[in-house]
Amino acid sequence: MTEPLHPREPARVPLANQPTRGHWLRYGDALGTRIWLKRDDHTGSELMGNKVRKLEYLMAEALAQEATHVLTCGGEQSNHARATAFAAAQLGMKSVLILRTDDPAKPPAPTGNILLDRLVGAQLVWITRGAWRDRNALLAEHAERLRAEGHRPYIVPEGGSNALGSWGYLRAMRELVDDLATIARPDAPVTVVYACGSGGTGAGLVLAAKLWKLHERGIRVAGVNVCDDRAYFTAAITKICADADARWDLGANITADDIDIVDGHVGLGYARSRPEELATIRDVARTDGVVFDPVYTGKAFHGVVTELKQDPQRFGATVAFIHTGGLYGLFASPDTIAQVL
Ligand SMILES: Cc1ncc(COP(=O)(O)O)c(C=O)c1O
Repeated sequence: MTEPLHPREPARVPLANQPTRGHWLRYGDALGTRIWLKRDDHTGSELMGNKVRKLEYLMAEALAQEATHVLTCGGEQSNHARATAFAAAQLGMKSVLILRTDDPAKPPAPTGNILLDRLVGAQLVWITRGAWRDRNALLAEHAERLRAEGHRPYIVPEGGSNALGSWGYLRAMRELVDDLATIARPDAPVTVVYACGSGGTGAGLVLAAKLWKLHERGIRVAGVNVCDDRAYFTAAITKICADADARWDLGANITADDIDIVDGHVGLGYARSRPEELATIRDVARTDGVVFDPVYTGKAFHGVVTELKQDPQRFGATVAFIHTGGLYGLFASPDTIAQVL
């Protein structure tokens, strides 16, 4: 895979272990659908998960601008914020993380991703859920403060989910297409399924599917949203794709018809788990030795299982589920998963 991804691919700094490997999940046998797992949780250790692929492009831009500080935002256990802080440190930059929590006066204990954020020396700025609405203004304010102090800040948006970050999942899709060429029967439809949290992963996959006409090879893409709803993500993904089209003249023209969001599996809400979701995480660990996280991959995978129980053909002959990481989040609330052990 040495040939360029696309003639207009922007600069990229290698951060991820890739291509990531894939394998069949035994768990799919009882559901009557073959499930191929793409191990993007193996993109790294400090940098594990889907965010690293986006950060390869975002950090290349930060380096080109000779940034000294990288700023981003997320929930208190944000995988993206942790990955950004480590990517910054690996490239010799400092990081500022604006994190949402219930009571900023009493920041959460250093568990899971927060422990790693603190270990790597990120500056943590705790904000309320109310202030989160103004996160982009806050990022700009902190960038301005740094500029006034003589530094060069670079802002990475929530989830690394913008047009530049979306290239990470164009690249991942190329790996997956190579995998599918060897494992899927040419006549059997495949659906690539991913957990959707801010839309950047989805945008890259949807762009790749359209640009490379993957439907002609029986490959579709579907996201299971872990928060918000179908309308929200259809709009978010359309916007990121339109920005990418405008910036690199890709000619993809993504519309709502190109975007499949499998809604109805948010359950109790973002980062809140139902016992049946936790039970699926436990069962996959026991049948396959694979760990999903409760916030993203476990919730989305449970959504896939729920759909397949209703209709084993829902996603065609094969599901290619992307394991987007999130392991450290599991250690943030051990009591939650312990309920089903
Ligand atoms: C482990 C994990 N999986 C999936 C997602 C969702 O990806 P995206 O934000 O690109 O929709 C995230 C982050 O939001 C994540 O941390």
